[in-house]
Amino acid sequence: MKEINITTHIAVYNNINELSFTVNSLMQQAIETRKNAYAPYSKFRVGAAILLENGKIVLGSNQENAAYPSGLCAERVAIFQAGAIYPNVKIVTLAITAASDTNPTTTPIPPCGACRQSIAEYEFKQETPIEIYFMGETGAVYKSNSIGNLLPLSFDKTSL
Ligand code: THU
Repeated sequence: MKEINITTHIAVYNNINELSFTVNSLMQQAIETRKNAYAPYSKFRVGAAILLENGKIVLGSNQENAAYPSGLCAERVAIFQAGAIYPNVKIVTLAITAASDTNPTTTPIPPCGACRQSIAEYEFKQETPIEIYFMGETGAVYKSNSIGNLLPLSFDKTSL
């Protein structure tokens, strides 16, 4: 028997002001689009903004449903929209922010497992890493250089 040790890397920014101009603007758009969340059940609003290689920005917010599993997370709303509208354009950066209507979120809110799997699909497809920045309503921002840091040992088409 032997062991495999997996190391992950996350860069930590104390707040949004430490981000580059481009990423700060992208996160501001994620914050703005968070307001469009349809979250009457969880009262938890998530905004996602994607910067594409061609400079276009694609936005998404979580969309809930009375039949709970029929809703969709902000990250997947955004990434599926990017794939649908710009199928051959690479995704460079994804910015995510989450805020609750009922209690403040002051720590970075990471994407859920299903969203990580969806992000991984697009990273494999385009064969270049997707930078992922995520935060709560206020406070620190975490950055991952690739989905690999958030989803090691991922399942992809090479396993099929
Ligand atoms: N949610 C997202 O939009 N992204 C995530 O990565 C985690 C959860 C949404 C789904 C649901 O509308 C609400 O947050 C509470 O789970």
